[in-house]
Amino acid sequence: MISRCFVAVYGIALVFGVQAAGAAYADECATPNGESGQCMPFSSCKDIEERLTQSQQSGQSVPADYASYLQKASCGEFNGVRHFCCPAAQIQHNSKVMALFKNKSFDCGNFLSQRVANGYEVKLSSRPWMALLRYQQFGEPRFLCGGALISERYILTAAHCVHGLQDDLDEIRLGEHRISTEEDCRQQGRKKKCAPPVVDVGIEKYIIHEHYDARHIMHDIALLRLKRSVPVQKHIKPICLPITDDLKQQAEQINTFFVTGWGTTENGSSSDVLLQANVPLQPRSACSQAYRRQVPTTQLCVGGGDLQDSCKGDSGGPLQAPARYLGEFAPRMVEFGIVSQGVVSCGQISLPGLYTNVGEYVQWITDTMASHGL
Ligand SMILES: *[C@@H]1O[C@H](CO)[C@@H](O)[C@H](O)[C@H]1NC(C)=O
Ligand SMILES: *[C@@H]1O[C@H](CO)[C@@H](O)[C@H](O)[C@H]1NC(C)=O
Repeated sequence: MISRCFVAVYGIALVFGVQAAGAAYADECATPNGESGQCMPFSSCKDIEERLTQSQQSGQSVPADYASYLQKASCGEFNGVRHFCCPAAQIQHNSKVMALFKNKSFDCGNFLSQRVANGYEVKLSSRPWMALLRYQQFGEPRFLCGGALISERYILTAAHCVHGLQDDLDEIRLGEHRISTEEDCRQQGRKKKCAPPVVDVGIEKYIIHEHYDARHIMHDIALLRLKRSVPVQKHIKPICLPITDDLKQQAEQINTFFVTGWGTTENGSSSDVLLQANVPLQPRSACSQAYRRQVPTTQLCVGGGDLQDSCKGDSGGPLQAPARYLGEFAPRMVEFGIVSQGVVSCGQISLPGLYTNVGEYVQWITDTMASHGL
């Protein structure tokens, strides 16, 4: 037994060498040709994926020289997925997840109405990706953060809503509008239209960004994999992500974003009903001044100036704007940011808030979804 085991392990080590022992996902590395790159799953590396798919389809093994290249380029196996040192120019969003996001039947960001109903109240079922994160606090269930549904299986939220709280955070609520009422309805003429019941679903995996820095609140992004898929319904749908270069650049040009939420912070929710606030994009220098530190491109500086702050949003909730998605005519709602920091100043001192710049993390999101299962 021992010797067979040894042979098996040795065999694997031989085929996929252990060139960069201790390397981790997205670590910088040098390819066998001396180019600088990152350690990525094979489906996120254009050339490697094409060549491996080609050989798989033709039923022929890869040529010996390419096999030897792969062996030298190998940088480890994480979650059972082989990783290779991928030249920077070859890195692509994970192809498996992109196939899902680009699928015509993937109905994301369908927002019906941009406007609010009365005051700041969002129209019923018009922000169907909004998620409430439920925590057990002193034996009581409480909603203390928000998030957004991005596929049938994943919630995108802030790392600070998850870090150190895995034992307390136990459930996600989808399809909610007014927290205190069992059934949410609106009057349409003489008729009463009601949304289907909310869906509460457990969490299977808590995935915090590898480089999340709790002290400086950097890389404040996390994914929650639900215990089961939640099929698209009238009041439950995913939001779109800025998956193209064009959409990523738009984040820097949009004048006004929407923040929606129940105002949930570590003190509980401040609103019973789902609200929306308009928040203007600010230059990063406005946040550098307010927070007394450099603001990198991985963050967006938004809001301030008036009292319509992200106090109406939720910690971990989405910063959104309608945008043209994959050349479609009707705009879709895209999640450009995640509410990260600055909620405390809400309504009092009007400081701009810091938001995780989602476009800078689409690579991480797609790689993470691919390795933990779609
Ligand atoms: C798109 O999604 C539909 C429904 O889930 C599926 O049947 C189809 O195979 C998908 N198409 C592609 C190209 O992945
Ligand atoms: C939560 O409550 C505490 C104590 O009242 C307060 O100091 C803190 O600023 C509150 N946090 C937020 C986000 O409102």
